[in-house]
Amino acid sequence: MANVAVIGGGYVGLTTAVCLSHLGHRVTCIDVDAQKVELMRDGVSPIVEEGIDEMLSYGLGSGLLTFSLLGEDDLPDAEFWFLCLPTPQSDDGSADLTYIETAAQTIGPKIPAGSVVINKSTVPVGTAESVFALIGRDDVSVVSNPEFLREGTAINDFLHPDRVVVGSSDEEAATRVAMLYAKVAAPAVICGARSAELIKYGANSFLATKLSYVNAVAELCELLGADADDVMMGIGLDKRIGQGFLQPGPGWGGSCFPKDTSALLKIAETVGYDFAMLEEARRINVEQFDRTAGKVEDIVADISSARIGVWGLTFKSGTDDLRDSPAIEVVSRLLALGANVVAYDPTVTEPLAELPGLEIVKDPYSAVSGADALVVLTEWPEFQSVDLGKVGELMPSRQIVDGRNHLHRRALERYKFNVVGVGR
Ligand SMILES: NC(=O)c1ccc[n+]([C@@H]2O[C@H](COP(=O)([O-])OP(=O)(O)OC[C@H]3O[C@@H](n4cnc5c(N)ncnc54)[C@H](O)[C@@H]3O)[C@@H](O)[C@H]2O)c1
Repeated sequence: MANVAVIGGGYVGLTTAVCLSHLGHRVTCIDVDAQKVELMRDGVSPIVEEGIDEMLSYGLGSGLLTFSLLGEDDLPDAEFWFLCLPTPQSDDGSADLTYIETAAQTIGPKIPAGSVVINKSTVPVGTAESVFALIGRDDVSVVSNPEFLREGTAINDFLHPDRVVVGSSDEEAATRVAMLYAKVAAPAVICGARSAELIKYGANSFLATKLSYVNAVAELCELLGADADDVMMGIGLDKRIGQGFLQPGPGWGGSCFPKDTSALLKIAETVGYDFAMLEEARRINVEQFDRTAGKVEDIVADISSARIGVWGLTFKSGTDDLRDSPAIEVVSRLLALGANVVAYDPTVTEPLAELPGLEIVKDPYSAVSGADALVVLTEWPEFQSVDLGKVGELMPSRQIVDGRNHLHRRALERYKFNVVGVGR
């Protein structure tokens, strides 16, 4: 059992905290947001994530997990200090390290000798070195331990990852961090900090590029009369390619891919490499947002006076995270064209500041009532079990753009909907 501090109680920090306490470590999760800390102390998760409430109760009940407010409570007596802080995109496209640097400066002078500071946030290559320099202590080590969890399956991904990556120039510190995961059955990649930092950006940029490629092939399917479901199945059965991440959609987004691809481009630029392939993947992705909105425009008589129902706003199902969601991109294009847009998402109940004209409703039927078309933008399972007969009655136009190929095709045919999918 180790004494661990997790700084930042967001999607990554809270997941890290509850999972490390589940693995038997004594964990203090520290945040600056008093309201969040209060909620977590009461056993209420501020984020939507499968299994997190149970894990939170378990951690609090076992006494292994506590929460603390930075600036108000004393720092815990920990030897491992995980930084799970935001690294948003700066105006120039690079990762903004302000949160990481501020935290390193705050805790640096106060943590016990022999402590290990662990960058779990996604940070540019060289950050372990710059954090070490900022802390300025020879008795403290810095290790890079990037996180690969996916929102929606975060707990499972943390406890059953494909790999654990630990990078440092200090081998002993890296081994100590790897030992925190001793009960996790996954290969460990122990390497230099720069390699660990690049593994994270390399993986996310590869996945984003893969999706752009899939969306480009889906477009070809539409132009050539092929079916993307069959094409992707046939491509994915090649073991060298694999079947994961071959689903075409409205474009990729979320809290990581947009900022991480942007940051990697910036990293490449600083060392004089023209990463044209990644630039192109990003350009194709913007085209995919345009194309999805264009399909809605094409399916209705006059978009400027049309009422459009939307199912799904989060960037994927299983999370309440709206950051850089493709749905936001598509809806903002429809609003700009003058459409009256009404959306339902199971996790969204309040109006969204970034989409002032968007009406939010509380169930999928209200979203389609009187609509000229429905567009499906997030793959929430509940959309597959709506009463399509009722949808048809509420939306006599029976026009659907299924931006995720999510609804059951045969059922839609039975109810005589006109459906435009992706790559079909
Ligand atoms: N969200 C993901 O799916 C995911 C997956 C892998 C890696 N990452 C990376 O992990 C990092 C964190 O991402 P996230 O999605 O968890 O962010 P988040 O915004 O959900 O959480 C950040 C938390 O840090 C808190 N915070 C801000 N400043 C603080 C401070 N000085 N001290 C203590 N707490 C502070 C915030 O209140 C918030 O609770 C980012 O670098 C991200 O790229 C995210």
